[in-house]
Amino acid sequence: KAGKRMRLLEVNKEAAKYFYYMLRDPRGEVGMRYLTGRKLTDETMHHFGLGYAGKNGEQVVQYLRKKGFTDEEIKDSGLAMFSEQRGLRSQFWNRVMFPIQDINHRVIGFGGRVMGDGEPKYLNSPETMIFDKRRNLYGLNFARTARTGNIILCEGYMDVIAMHQAGFTQAVASLGTAFTVEQANLLHRYAENILLAYDSDGAGTKAALRGIGILREAGLTGKVINMRPYKDPDEFIKNLGKEAFQERIDQAENSFYFEIRILSEQYDQSDPEQRTKFHREIAQKLCEFSEDLERENYLQAIAEKYMIRPDDLRKMVIGYASQTG
Ligand code: GTP
Ligand code: MN
Ligand code: MN
Ligand code: MN
Ligand code: MN
Repeated sequence: KAGKRMRLLEVNKEAAKYFYYMLRDPRGEVGMRYLTGRKLTDETMHHFGLGYAGKNGEQVVQYLRKKGFTDEEIKDSGLAMFSEQRGLRSQFWNRVMFPIQDINHRVIGFGGRVMGDGEPKYLNSPETMIFDKRRNLYGLNFARTARTGNIILCEGYMDVIAMHQAGFTQAVASLGTAFTVEQANLLHRYAENILLAYDSDGAGTKAALRGIGILREAGLTGKVINMRPYKDPDEFIKNLGKEAFQERIDQAENSFYFEIRILSEQYDQSDPEQRTKFHREIAQKLCEFSEDLERENYLQAIAEKYMIRPDDLRKMVIGYASQTG
């Protein structure tokens, strides 16, 4: 079994090499033009081992066979699928390729992006013996040695790459799936503070709220970076530059304040009925703090922010706390 894992890692390593050289080949010119258009430097492309998948799904399979891998090994690596009509073929073709590395820099899977519009925008390797999406993070092989005291968690491959290129080498992303408890525990090995840099759209806000809960459960401190008026870190940095991004990092919002602020937007604060409901929600959320001092500190801060009498809020909190035991 260990031997099999080694072989699958070898398949991925060879495939990554193939994609890497294709990108620098005249046949990969479209890929190179795409990545250059997204403002990536040659050095960045090299650092992340970016590649191009070729114009059909057969070439990489043929290359891997020539390197001595069996069809079963190629299939089990997740790089190709077998069909009766067409034999063994890779699902990756005409895409720019992002090798996904584990913390020891071993390629365990790939993400591939269409150039321009097209569906699906990103295609990711399926889970295999060596690729567990819940337990890996894109960019962590570099971020783990960044020694910045924090880690920036974002949504996409391009966000990670743009941040690293701008000097924020502590950036990581989950792998096209939702952030998991296992990933939070993995991050806890390297940092105590996690800065969320999710997209500024509705989906990103939802993902951030979910992420905050997971971080808290794992004993990590979360803060939220405001990306507005841009959509994500890649676009923010492209438009406003790294100094502006550093300012946003410095201004990152306490995750509890963030949660309450998002909540406040769901209630009409001028309507007493809704305002009361909002206050009840705050009281319930304050109950989640198990430490009295921390709860009281947040209570005072939130009461001031939203102009609630602290005594009233405290009574409500005590009421809920006695209900839930
Ligand atoms: P760019 O358009 O290249 O800047 O990508 P993005 O990262 O901004 O895209 P988006 O915010 O839509 O998605 C964030 C991340 O979700 C991507 O980096 C992918 O990992 C994943 N993702 C996006 N689209 C798809 C898709 O169609 N299929 C899958 N499986 N994952 C996707
Ligand atoms: Mn800790
Ligand atoms: Mn998005
Ligand atoms: Mn983007
Ligand atoms: Mn995005």
